[in-house]
Amino acid sequence: MAINKKYIEQIINVSSKAALASSYLVGKKDKIAADQAAVDSMRAELNKISMNGEVVIGEGSLDEAPMLYTGELLGNKEGPNFDIAVDPLEGTNFAANNLPGAISVIAIAEKGNLFNAPETYMDKIATSKVEKGLIDLDNSLKKNITNLANFMNKDISSITACIMDRPRHKKIIDELKELKVKIKLITDGDVLGALYVSDSKYNVDIFLGVGGGPEGVLAAAALDACDCHFQGRFIFDNDNDINDAKKMGITDLNKKYELNEIIKGDSIFCATGITSGDVLSGIEIKENNYTSETFVTHKNSQFKEIIKRTNPIKE
Ligand code: FBP
Repeated sequence: MAINKKYIEQIINVSSKAALASSYLVGKKDKIAADQAAVDSMRAELNKISMNGEVVIGEGSLDEAPMLYTGELLGNKEGPNFDIAVDPLEGTNFAANNLPGAISVIAIAEKGNLFNAPETYMDKIATSKVEKGLIDLDNSLKKNITNLANFMNKDISSITACIMDRPRHKKIIDELKELKVKIKLITDGDVLGALYVSDSKYNVDIFLGVGGGPEGVLAAAALDACDCHFQGRFIFDNDNDINDAKKMGITDLNKKYELNEIIKGDSIFCATGITSGDVLSGIEIKENNYTSETFVTHKNSQFKEIIKRTNPIKE
């Protein structure tokens, strides 16, 4: 089954409005308020859509935070059943401090087709499409980089690897430096970090490292539609996370997930810029209108585009 194309416009509208709501809080040094504004807008807009939607990737469980929680039902209860993954404000630091790269993100898939990811870290690796086994979380870093360079017919020294600037990545970053790989360090926002591999114009050949699991699933949704390679492995390193994983039915805590185990079937992904970055321009407000830029994918129609829209602020 395919998701009707009419939902593309509606989901663009959802992420654009969330980005607009959050944009009023940009630079106000208040991550929570900026996030809450995006959440409130997303919920209100999603509830107007003809669907039976269920949040499978949200902002925690109902008892943790009154955000868009995992298990929350959305939509007007008429229409198809969808799984929904949201990150209403991805890059809370960016928004609070008026830095490039804050985005509002959502993905929808047909019911049962989006992995219900635990709220833990995930070890991730992403590249453009490669042969099976060539780039693998179980390979050494050197093997992955050498394989990628050979596959792309490039020198290792002209391969660019994107990774988050975190102490936990020191060993990888040191090794990349030794291999003479070009490193693109990002301070936050690893959904966009992973999306860089979707188009050669972003000059990133491989994305790797440990970041949020939910962010991994969201990136996977877009990369699936872009025919890219992605693998993820959740990291369960404390009793709480291990218990949560067991409750979710995860028995193999070391399992490496392939892209087609994270997302299946048709899907729509939208990420709208809140602050301007190197992929998306942020929200611009002029008089009574706002302009937004959204990275949109629709798997079945192989649609992948950055869509710019100007709409009235109050409709
Ligand atoms: P928030 O928007 O929730 O602040 O997340 C930003 C982010 O950089 C994600 O993109 C990334 O997956 C995660 O934080 C990494 O977590 P940590 O900052 O703990 O390394």
